[in-house]
Amino acid sequence: MQKGEVNSQINNAMYVNGAPTIPLLTPYRIGQFNLSHRVVLAPLTRNRSYNNVPQPHAILYYSQRTTKGGLLITEATGVSDTAQGYPETPGIWTKEQIEAWKPIVDAVHAKGGIFFCQLWHVGRVSNPGFQPGGQDPISSTDKPIKGTKYTSPRRLGTEEIPQIVNDFRIAARNAIEAGFDGVEIHGAHGYLIDQFLKDNVNDRTDQYGGSLENRCRFALEIVEAVANEIGADRLGIRLSPFADYMDSFDSNPTALGLYLAESLNKYGILYCHMVEPRMKTAAEKHEISETLLPMRKAFNGTFISAGGYHKEDGNKAVEENRTDLVAYGRWFLANPDLPKRFELNAPLNNYNRTTFYIQDPVVGYTDYPFLEDTVSVSA
Ligand SMILES: Cc1cc2nc3c(=O)[nH]c(=O)nc-3n(C[C@H](O)[C@H](O)[C@H](O)COP(=O)(O)O)c2cc1C
Repeated sequence: MQKGEVNSQINNAMYVNGAPTIPLLTPYRIGQFNLSHRVVLAPLTRNRSYNNVPQPHAILYYSQRTTKGGLLITEATGVSDTAQGYPETPGIWTKEQIEAWKPIVDAVHAKGGIFFCQLWHVGRVSNPGFQPGGQDPISSTDKPIKGTKYTSPRRLGTEEIPQIVNDFRIAARNAIEAGFDGVEIHGAHGYLIDQFLKDNVNDRTDQYGGSLENRCRFALEIVEAVANEIGADRLGIRLSPFADYMDSFDSNPTALGLYLAESLNKYGILYCHMVEPRMKTAAEKHEISETLLPMRKAFNGTFISAGGYHKEDGNKAVEENRTDLVAYGRWFLANPDLPKRFELNAPLNNYNRTTFYIQDPVVGYTDYPFLEDTVSVSA
């Protein structure tokens, strides 16, 4: 039997030792990593990395959410000093930041987790207060985000773009130095890469604007640079072609998603992580008829779906082979032992939106309760 066939048999197994099991809790091999289940920690910005430096309290936060063989993705992490747009978000461009990530990564590894760092540049979702020297934020465009407090960005010159690509490459190298198993390029939710991808934002006339191919060039150059630096087998990307978050939307999201999925195949990256069309904004659900299925079918690597999932529809998506893995955001934020709760069919803690983005090192962060150790399967 070919290696691929063995993989696909393992990866499609809904039976363990002959007994039917919960699809989300079946093992899955992703490249060199053996996952024991398919419940992924989605990237979640938590605004508790003071001065852009990850803090010791993140050791507890991430290790609480670690299971042996579980995949975790960090909160969005800035690739350079122009990448920030929110208070107290972490970075990975300085030595101090790399060193600060190390004990957090070590804690996740000590419990057997697989840990990817999400690499981020906000582009125009920023203002001079977050920028070095109080300069204007950079973008694909000089149009500001409509109807918001954000200032007009400065359009990147064609000749400046390789430098930003290089920032992602170096940040990826730094992530590997910090001990991460790989990186996820944040190409979603209206941030810099998305500002190039979507035709209502990108109004460039150079080789980075206009046609679908041109709008995707920046994203794919980053993919290529990072893959060359750390290996395609350590690289994933997150995309949200259907979202209109931060005034970033496309006139033909299915064509955009499909073009990206097909183009990514050329680089052989580990995974493609897509946000469901129902998540028009980063954390609000709308039911619509479009699906990720064309992209799932087109992409050759591992597919991760995210956005508005509960246990039941996550199981169904895996069972029906509409995705390989499901990333959970808010439920994992509020339930550090989410895979165990799924296994035991236990009730979930509700999440508290008011503490998502506060700077407290404990409240709304590491104080969500675990199931009592005494809860049994029959409870
Ligand atoms: C508090 C919070 C922070 C988030 N931060 C990020 C982030 O840093 N990067 C990202 O790609 N998505 C981010 N998202 C989006 C989530 O990863 C996820 O896609 C979204 O919450 C929908 O999934 P859910 O219904 O499972 O929560 C964030 C969402 C929330 C609620």
